[in-house]
Amino acid sequence: MSGNIVILTGAGISAESGIPTFRAADGLWEGHRVEDVATPEAYERQPEVVQKFYNERRRYLLNGIEANEGHRALARLEAEYPSEVLLVTQNIDNLHEKGGSQKVLHMHGELLKGRCLACGEECEVVGDLGPDSQCSLCEERGKIRPAIVWFGEMPDHMPQIEKALMEADLFLSVGTSGQVYPAAGFVEIARVAGAETIEVNLDETIGSSRFARTVRGKAGETLPGLVEELLNRP
Ligand code: OAD
Repeated sequence: MSGNIVILTGAGISAESGIPTFRAADGLWEGHRVEDVATPEAYERQPEVVQKFYNERRRYLLNGIEANEGHRALARLEAEYPSEVLLVTQNIDNLHEKGGSQKVLHMHGELLKGRCLACGEECEVVGDLGPDSQCSLCEERGKIRPAIVWFGEMPDHMPQIEKALMEADLFLSVGTSGQVYPAAGFVEIARVAGAETIEVNLDETIGSSRFARTVRGKAGETLPGLVEELLNRP
């Protein structure tokens, strides 16, 4: 088989690199309620609280967090597979890129980018953002927000993703709880379009029954074998 592949990844693929997943048992994200840090309303109300939250995540990411075997396996698939492989991630970290993936669509934005609310342009961000941050393009100060898609905002790259799902022969979902739409609905789009569907997850998820095949286990341990299998298919 060498038809097109669409891969969707979530927080689970970065867990083995040391980045906590979102849905901990207490329902909080690293001690915060979602509506306090991940909505446009929160940013309007308390920009400093939201900036601090993402500044902490960014510092943590840049302090020695590395890609793991799961990221590297997906990069190998992209490099060696004879047809199109589109990697769509809900993750805001840069670990797919660090693992060697060339073509990554970040549908929920990127921690290492900011968007200037004055000129609308995106820029690289490696330090903290705050009221003094200056846009390198329009030079306005204090107008750069994290380039993260918050609840209530439209995910990025949706037309391109939907087109790829409609044309996919295999849809592979890795390390996502399947609780956040539209990503949670991708399996259905691909399945209806005739794609084979595989889920890789540590546990059963709310969406597991929608997949033709489920692979239980850690992404870093199961993906290298699965990728080998896909590359060796006739
Ligand atoms: P979740 O935290 O909801 O789910 C993580 C999933 O990874 C769970 O199903 C775990 O069982 C699984 N998992 C954990 N460790 C794993 C491992 N080593 N290998 C494989 N699977 C593992 O994270 P997401 O589904 O990514 O959105 O969350 C989706 C979105 O919700 C996020 O992108 C974020 C959040 O709200 C925004 O910020 C807009």
